Amino acid sequence: MQVISGVIRKKVVPMKAQIKGIGHALPDRIMTNEELETMVDTSTEWIIERTGILERRIAGVDTAASDLSYEAALMALERSGMQAKDLDLIIVGTSTPDMLFPSTACIVQDRLGARNVPAFDLEAGCTGFVYSLVVAEKFLLSPEYNNILVVGVDICSRIIDYSDRNTCVLFGDGAGAAILGKGSGDTGILGTYLGADGSGGQFLCMPGGGSARPASHESVEQGLHCIKMDGSEIFRFATRITVDISEKLLGAAGYKYEDVDLFVPHQSNMRIIKSAMRRMKIPEEKTVTSVKQFGNMSAACLPVALSIYEEEGKLQEGDLVLLAAFGAGLSYGGALLRWGRDKDVF
Ligand code: UT7
Repeated sequence: MQVISGVIRKKVVPMKAQIKGIGHALPDRIMTNEELETMVDTSTEWIIERTGILERRIAGVDTAASDLSYEAALMALERSGMQAKDLDLIIVGTSTPDMLFPSTACIVQDRLGARNVPAFDLEAGCTGFVYSLVVAEKFLLSPEYNNILVVGVDICSRIIDYSDRNTCVLFGDGAGAAILGKGSGDTGILGTYLGADGSGGQFLCMPGGGSARPASHESVEQGLHCIKMDGSEIFRFATRITVDISEKLLGAAGYKYEDVDLFVPHQSNMRIIKSAMRRMKIPEEKTVTSVKQFGNMSAACLPVALSIYEEEGKLQEGDLVLLAAFGAGLSYGGALLRWGRDKDVF
């Protein structure tokens, strides 16, 4: 507050989108590297040395993306002190929706009982959560939208060919959810950055099941309903783009790498994460490395990590958090956040 000539004026503080609550849901079933050894020509040593992954979670056959999303959303709502009726919009970032339509967001909306709230899916591969977060942040600029549920979910195991050792050892299942609302203080989203290079789309794709190659006996026999990946191409892209995103976000906000309290890169391979850490001189204790425990959960990686870190007290009010993700598209993007939320503003 400022007192000017006897008139009390409210200091005008620009609105920042804030994460009001965050949650996650993971399947109970753990798939170990040893189990994969019995399914495909691989070894625990190779997986650990080339990826750093120790185990991953796999959803049961009766669990769909909407089930994990719903659980994660309930946790995020509870932690935000809100109810489904407080939501104005639902965005689900996923490449493994329950079905092509209706959207998983509409299914989640119905289960939450958030009737009439607009809901849509956003497909940006492993960048799905970051894209959804940034879209939500833009909606919050409008007075019509105050609280937005943003979910990152993928049940990767449904689109994995467990005889393809190039991909099957990498992926796992999970969901993370954030309630994004308006804040008036120093905490919240400080900057965002999105991009895409569609010329690299063929390096990471699931070719079958869409209008180009609809499902047929042939498409199933040819394995077109599973992930196809050129690992080396993605590896090269990932190591370059993770640093690019980080540099752009920090530079625009006037910060340096040493200011970062928690670096949350996409969790696809420890070697990609370590390469970024080396180039950015961010130590491992300030870097999320949950890929070891959960593998690559695609759009769920970042919100699951944030939720668990907050739960474990590793993410504190005021921490500078740097998110950087990449994925199919090829899409990429990130966000810089000052962690924490206003106590009294919903
Ligand atoms: O969210 C988006 C995601 N994807 C990524 O971020 C993936 C990025 N890429 C990677 O993480 C790595 O490229 C991989 C982990 C996929 C592969 O590691 P790499 O060090 O690039 O291995 P490579 O593809 O160069 O293959 C080296 C060898 C090959 O054998 P030959 O041709 O040299 O005889 C592969 O066939 O390793 C073989 N190989 C395996 N061996 C045992 C590939 N996968 C396996 C495996 N077990 N699971």
